[in-house]
Amino acid sequence: MSAVGSAKRLTPTRIRMMKGGTPIVCLTAYTTPMARLLDEHCDLLLVGDSLGMVLYGMESTVAVTLDMMIAHGKAVMRGVARSCVVVDMPFGSYQESKELAYRNAVRILQETGCDAVKLEGGEEMAETISFLTARGIPVLGHIGLMPQQVHTAGGYRSVGHSETEIAKIRRDADAIGNSGAFAVVIEGTVETFAREATTAIPVPTIGIGASAACDGQVLVSDDMLGLFNDFTPRFVKRYDELGKRVGAAAAAYAGEVRSRAFPAEKHTFKRRS
Ligand code: KIV
Repeated sequence: MSAVGSAKRLTPTRIRMMKGGTPIVCLTAYTTPMARLLDEHCDLLLVGDSLGMVLYGMESTVAVTLDMMIAHGKAVMRGVARSCVVVDMPFGSYQESKELAYRNAVRILQETGCDAVKLEGGEEMAETISFLTARGIPVLGHIGLMPQQVHTAGGYRSVGHSETEIAKIRRDADAIGNSGAFAVVIEGTVETFAREATTAIPVPTIGIGASAACDGQVLVSDDMLGLFNDFTPRFVKRYDELGKRVGAAAAAYAGEVRSRAFPAEKHTFKRRS
């Protein structure tokens, strides 16, 4: 159990009730200090498997393991007092069968103390989500661009640009929105579809690259903080340039170490007389 406890935290049921109201605020968090900084501003904190790329420098999320997600889920739980915490089920931990999904979701809930799990998938995952939710496991769905399917999708590409794609994500939204999931992340799709899905399904839609039409928004924290100096996707707004500031701070430190300006007297222990 987290040091700060769970009594005042938002629950998946409360998030579900935010449909159509004040937009739901969600950011990713992977560590205790970041969870502490973000918690009071968010409704949902997502321990996303994006941590594989953001923290571990992986090429995709495909190699992220259940143990990694559990370790970071525990870390985030130590830093929250308010937000509902959702931990991603990594690639390979739920697709094979609903029974495997159940066992691994139970591990995540029991070992981290988080509130819910998230899993990617459209109509093919609806039965699994119903199986989990009927057995006490709150699930956040994830449709549209699904990063765990990078190899079959042939890359990271927004969806909904043809009638065939629209028909597919319409079926996905309908299936997942009515599967028992308490909310659904919609990633990388065109605005017209996001608006249609938000109107059509009974649970909140949380968009990332899916326009302002959704019931809430999620971003990868490191992206919106500008911790990367390289490529920024079109759907990301950088609210700061922490990457540049970290570089500038490190350069100032290096200069002062080399010139012996740091440490100064005030940073130096003296023998007590
Ligand atoms: O892993 C992640 O961070 C996510 C969000 C981008 C929705 O799934």
